[in-house]
Amino acid sequence: MDLKEFHRRSIEDREAFWAEQATLIDWHAPFTKVLDDSRLPFTRWFVDGQTNLCHNAIDRHLAAQSDKPALIFVSTETGDERTYTFGQLHREVQRMAAIMQALGVRRGERVLIYLPMIPEALFAMYACARIGAIHTVVFGGFASHSLATRIDDAAPVLIVSADGGSRGGKVVPYKPLLDEAIGLSSHKPAHVLMVDRKLTPFSRVADRDQDYAALREQHLEAQVPVTWLESNDISYILYTSGTTGKPKGVQRDVGGHAVALAASMKHIFCGQAGETYFSSSDIGWVVGHSYIVYGPLIAGMATIVYEGTPLRPDAGILWKLVEQHKVSVMFSAPTAIRVLKKQDPSYLTKYDTSGLRTLFLAGEPLDEPTAKWIAEGIGRPIIDNYWQTETGWPILSVAHGVEKTPTRFGSPGMPMYGYDVRLLHEQTGEEVGNNEKGVVAIVPPLPPGCLQTIWQDDKRFVDTYFSSIPGRQVYSTFDWGIRDDDGYYFILGRTDDVINVAGHRLGTREIEESLSSHSAVAECAVVGVADQLKGQVAMAFVVLKDPALVEAQQGRLKLEGDLMATVDRQLGAVARPSRVHFVTVLPKTRSGKVLRRSIQALCEGRDPGDLTTIEDPMALEQVRGAIAPA
Ligand code: PRX
Repeated sequence: MDLKEFHRRSIEDREAFWAEQATLIDWHAPFTKVLDDSRLPFTRWFVDGQTNLCHNAIDRHLAAQSDKPALIFVSTETGDERTYTFGQLHREVQRMAAIMQALGVRRGERVLIYLPMIPEALFAMYACARIGAIHTVVFGGFASHSLATRIDDAAPVLIVSADGGSRGGKVVPYKPLLDEAIGLSSHKPAHVLMVDRKLTPFSRVADRDQDYAALREQHLEAQVPVTWLESNDISYILYTSGTTGKPKGVQRDVGGHAVALAASMKHIFCGQAGETYFSSSDIGWVVGHSYIVYGPLIAGMATIVYEGTPLRPDAGILWKLVEQHKVSVMFSAPTAIRVLKKQDPSYLTKYDTSGLRTLFLAGEPLDEPTAKWIAEGIGRPIIDNYWQTETGWPILSVAHGVEKTPTRFGSPGMPMYGYDVRLLHEQTGEEVGNNEKGVVAIVPPLPPGCLQTIWQDDKRFVDTYFSSIPGRQVYSTFDWGIRDDDGYYFILGRTDDVINVAGHRLGTREIEESLSSHSAVAECAVVGVADQLKGQVAMAFVVLKDPALVEAQQGRLKLEGDLMATVDRQLGAVARPSRVHFVTVLPKTRSGKVLRRSIQALCEGRDPGDLTTIEDPMALEQVRGAIAPA
């Protein structure tokens, strides 16, 4: 079929289109209405339909695939390898669900999951889905302050965690960070369920902390039936960064989410039941939620859960896994490929990757040299795809399950079915023409699978996403884009203060707030600066209360180290600025707004732009001086 026609139908005949897609999943009770868009921008999909994500990911495959692999765990950090068939996974998830119920978790309550890439993390997610609890997974690379904010916002009754993870051969303790976070938060969970991997000793809080292995023993034979949920019940909350320091709880439904993932597995990822899917992302990010945990299993595929880096034991590990587990669909991020590009290219051909149909890459701009290098290196097709935590599945890509549209270097592709994508002028809200830069926007209703709202903050949902383009209630992605004459889109970077470090989405305001908590700091500005390897890195400019502190080189180095350690401790090393520069004044407009775009431009060697509103031109000179090579 023709992709443009498929897309046109999805917009012009939405209800019929999505009713068809809805047959890709099991429904316990049919929906009475495909789409309720009577309260835009809020949308309700598959109204009154009853279904369950865990049932669709696991139970419904039992008849045909009980003995086939569902979850393949490989840790190159600990040397563990475990494979769970659909049957075994079904049992483990019921055990976990029974433990959660025994610890008092009820339908609609939140369970926060702070775990490394281990099977138990997925058991916990599926168990929540099974009993109708709402999971909120926090990336293991985040530290106590980030965790505390999320604990307070989601108010979980239970937290599932572990003694630690391991990265690059080094144990990373989780429990002390978790204890510190619970100390900081005003909400206190009733229980903490601890998976003890015996990687690092940890202290337990009596009554509150429970041992997973011991409780599992008590529930070995547990049978926990699926709780049928209304399609618009909440399946999960996943926090993501925005313009303010407070992360947004992206909230997703059940039915729309399941249908959207099932449809994307068919039309975009082209995965078949019985095959293996390997995404090198992390369950703490949206790619992990959609394409490690739920998507592959909904399609009846096995999913690989990989704890490790692309470089250990050597730069061939990803391809070795592809060969060993006969991976047919793979998903990674451009940064991972750029890391491999620095290694011996013979690793790309050392293993048999001929079974790999496609390597999908997303999360940050895929530069042409990297795309060419990997496409030629492994000799397999590469498909870029562009989307967000908010949308849960690709906005732009090609859908080879529909039509074999050619890809174009530098472009993530075209609007996917269901998304009415427009490029709009930032100030006038008018549509821009081909080859003109505009804000990538989506005319509501958003398709199934996209965020329902921000957890407990409908106002913020509307104000943030649907009120930024003058005169139009459209969803803003906060990305700049351009479309060529053939309909291919190109993404040109964010319009807001969100940065993307090695595919990790971070808010510069969160980093600024963390730096400002240091007693020496008067004020600061953090910007994202282009980086060859990581796409972007955070760079900080700090004004001290007492500039004398950094008069000597030694004092400067010590304070820079202290400030980085503050961010490490509060937010996690992922958010650590690559450099902290000291200045005595920040460039601001006369109304006091920090000119972050100008600072960023200077850091990237570009023209700082219109400076007619600047309060003190010397401030920019200081930035220029600070970043000049010594
Ligand atoms: O700026 C865009 C960039 O990553 C942002 C979304 O990040 P996150 O919420 O973590 O979701 C990632 C899901 C894959 C976008 O607003 N981005 C994502 N994919 C691409 C991209 N930029 C360019 N090309 C892409 N393929």
